[in-house]
Amino acid sequence: MKPEDFILGPRVTRRAALRTLAATPILLMGAPALAADPAGLSGYWVLLAPNGDGTYRKSYFYLQQSGQTLTGKVMFGNRDLPISNGSVQNGKVRFEVVIHYRTETRRINYTGQVNGEKIDMKVAFQGRSPRTGTAQRTTREATLPPKPLPLPELRDLPDNGLVRTPPMGWNSWNKFAGRVDDQIVRSVADAMVASGMSKVGYEYINIDDTWQGGRDSKGRITGNKKFPDMKALADYVHSKGLKIGIYSSPGPLTCAGYEASFGHEEQDAKTYAEWGFDYLKYDWCSAGNIYKDTDMRPVYQKMGEALLNCGRPIVYSLCQYGRDDVWGWGAKVSGNLWRTTGDINDHWERMDDIGFRQFAIQHYVRPGHWNDPDMLEIGNGGMNSDEYRTHMSLWCLLAAPLLAGNDLSSMTEDTKSILMNREVIAIDQDPAAQPAQLVTYVGKLMVAYRKLHDGSTAVAFFNRTEKEDEIGVEWSAVGIEGKTLQARDLWKHDTTEVSGHHYSTKVPAHGVVMLKVTEKM
Ligand code: GLA
Repeated sequence: MKPEDFILGPRVTRRAALRTLAATPILLMGAPALAADPAGLSGYWVLLAPNGDGTYRKSYFYLQQSGQTLTGKVMFGNRDLPISNGSVQNGKVRFEVVIHYRTETRRINYTGQVNGEKIDMKVAFQGRSPRTGTAQRTTREATLPPKPLPLPELRDLPDNGLVRTPPMGWNSWNKFAGRVDDQIVRSVADAMVASGMSKVGYEYINIDDTWQGGRDSKGRITGNKKFPDMKALADYVHSKGLKIGIYSSPGPLTCAGYEASFGHEEQDAKTYAEWGFDYLKYDWCSAGNIYKDTDMRPVYQKMGEALLNCGRPIVYSLCQYGRDDVWGWGAKVSGNLWRTTGDINDHWERMDDIGFRQFAIQHYVRPGHWNDPDMLEIGNGGMNSDEYRTHMSLWCLLAAPLLAGNDLSSMTEDTKSILMNREVIAIDQDPAAQPAQLVTYVGKLMVAYRKLHDGSTAVAFFNRTEKEDEIGVEWSAVGIEGKTLQARDLWKHDTTEVSGHHYSTKVPAHGVVMLKVTEKM
């Protein structure tokens, strides 16, 4: 048997291979060498990699084999990445793909062994453990995203009346990502009560990506093996006096490649309601392969309408990374909160960058409609306590949703003291929801403030530099006129009387001093 025969497998003839190639005229153009040697692995492939929960992650690639050389592309959504260093020898396949992301370059290595008509493959993302899967032939059509759905005419949807103060709770993604399961969600719900977090206002237990199985014969979404009974889980969380959240996407797949709501919007909203869910995070992701950014408003309106009609109050959280100036229309699709940025991570630089960019859009915040600079990383270990106090203070000053992203069942005392600082939380939850404003800005030394419903002022002194420094402000710059003032330090929990026009304080590197200042007449 010649190597090519082995690669092709017994039932794929040279003629069949030619037919496959003829069906893909665009890719054949300018490839006379391939036409002369068309056999082998040339054609479209789908790689099915098991997620370990009964579902598979699908990815597609197109190969062109010429002798022992493989070229082609791997398709990531609507992005095609060229294959490099591709070869096939004695049934052993290898190729790689290079991804340029911001300043980084990452490689994905594909290796495989032809096995009949399939290829047993290993996919190794740089720095991660390899995934295995099986590739089988597919058609070009199967690799294409579905056609866009007809979208509703734009109209302003009514306010659902929920979350008059920023939502507080927990979300599974930052800590558990794809490892989240029913047991973890239950134990986090237990811990939210046992730790005292529920007493200080945390309420929602939100399951993020990777809970989905598929659809049953009636098209109804199901949980996967990690989530055998979504209704029972919702009942459990409710029995703790808490609320529960779920996650989907307007595209066919979620960001992690799981079944999403495309074409099933009303049905899914009804299913969430029947299960007893109270919150939906709706993440753009694969919808980006189908719709333009300017379609975002009608796409989100579609689910907004479905939620309003599903028979249960459900908080609507838009997640499209702040594109298309969502703060201008998020409330009109009945949205309660909208992400304003890409994903946070557990590093000072990212949190600092996201957090301090929020002031420019603060005036869009109002009761029931919140800017969402992403979930908290407090307690996940990548920042020190001063940095986490800055994270908490800044999110609270901004009236951001407070969704803890750590493992609530194993928190240090320090983590608890940050997440459960009632005085700082009270700033977040202030019912007036006035916009926070940045006042002074000396390099990376900053003062910001927010007027509170009782006439007092929250003032935060942020030191974004690498060393301790003194930060000062004229009281008039934060709208404080009184001569005698009471300054409550919200982290030290002590009150001092201050007078004079100016105030200054030492602030640790990457740290914060946060005051609540009350004027004494
Ligand atoms: C996107 C979102 C994240 C998280 C993941 C899940 O990246 O922005 O918050 O939901 O998807 O796949």
